[in-house]
Amino acid sequence: MAIRLGDTAPDFTADSTAGTINFHEYLGDSWGILFSHPKDFTPVCTTELGEVARLKPEWDKRNVKVVGLSVDPVADHKRWAGDIEETQGTALNYPLLGDPERKVATLYDMIHPNADNTLTVRSVFIIGPDKKVKLTLTYPAATGRNFQEILRVVDSLQLTAYHKVATPVNWKHGEDVIIVPGVSYEEAKEKFPGYKTIKPYLRVTKQPNTGSAD
Ligand code: BEZ
Repeated sequence: MAIRLGDTAPDFTADSTAGTINFHEYLGDSWGILFSHPKDFTPVCTTELGEVARLKPEWDKRNVKVVGLSVDPVADHKRWAGDIEETQGTALNYPLLGDPERKVATLYDMIHPNADNTLTVRSVFIIGPDKKVKLTLTYPAATGRNFQEILRVVDSLQLTAYHKVATPVNWKHGEDVIIVPGVSYEEAKEKFPGYKTIKPYLRVTKQPNTGSAD
């Protein structure tokens, strides 16, 4: 069955380029991103995996642990890692799961038979420190993902987890945010001094500091 927002991310133990990983244990108190790519030694995947490695300082800043996967074995991932470093200028710095028996791919419904019967699509699961799924994304094999967008979503998720705000269209870290409709006039005045009312249901305020409750 498909994994939905709010579900507990299924736990598993699998081989990876960093040794055996128990997923929940590995994530600990961090946020997590589990993402699949269709196949090793393919062009789009090579660029994506290099980009995820290049973004390590950004993942670290946000306390996010990233784990990749495909149905290729770990030995193939390790051989391919050299090509990624050579062509993308960054060595892999996060674990890649080998899933030739498709155990994790099946658990996370990453094989979409009407797209391809054997390979994983480009799935992304963002998982909170509570191990609940906060975002799912699915891209087809021929379209590389935009990991800046995934970072932007992490920023929004981390902000809205702690404050009674939501982020508007095209929002980026540091820009104004929206006070959620459930917040009363009195509470809004106290928590978000100086906020602007555009419509009673559309109230805008400066971005609160990330990571601490109102
Ligand atoms: C790619 O990474 O370039 C790719 C992988 C599988 C199918 C199509 C493209």
